[in-house]
Amino acid sequence: MAPRRIVTYGTPILRQRTREVTELDGELQQLIDDMVETMYAAPGVGLAANQVGSPHRLFVANPTDSHDPSKLLVVINPEVVESDGEFANEEGCLSIPEFRETVVRARRMVLRGLDREGRPLEVEGRDLLARIFQHELDHLNGLFFLDRLSPAKRDILGRKLKKAFFESAT
Ligand code: NI
Repeated sequence: MAPRRIVTYGTPILRQRTREVTELDGELQQLIDDMVETMYAAPGVGLAANQVGSPHRLFVANPTDSHDPSKLLVVINPEVVESDGEFANEEGCLSIPEFRETVVRARRMVLRGLDREGRPLEVEGRDLLARIFQHELDHLNGLFFLDRLSPAKRDILGRKLKKAFFESAT
């Protein structure tokens, strides 16, 4: 296992919809191991494949600070089965370091997908885990948490991000 570089805001792959996984080969298993390592090292509670530059539709998550292995989730080709409730909380993103905003998300979400062995998987997330599901699904669809903000807030944050991630690079 080796941590991979997390790509940041402005990298085109973060704005692209990821592709369904059709083959769970050794390369994909390596990607999953590396993503878990990268998430823990960051440290973060969730990571989508396109955040490490891979076009595959999968994410890893672990809502525990202790990296409890029994709480580690690998979800391949996730789809939303159910979603309900609403709660606002502060959210950040490993691809947008240093920026946090309050985002309204569903309080509970059930996802369906495949585990890393290719077996059908159905997982329910509440509160933080539901938030992680929605945040990572957004990544897999080419979205960021800032796309979930009100137009006025998005505008302000968008200008700050432009300054931080584009103008500083030139
Ligand atoms: Ni993120």
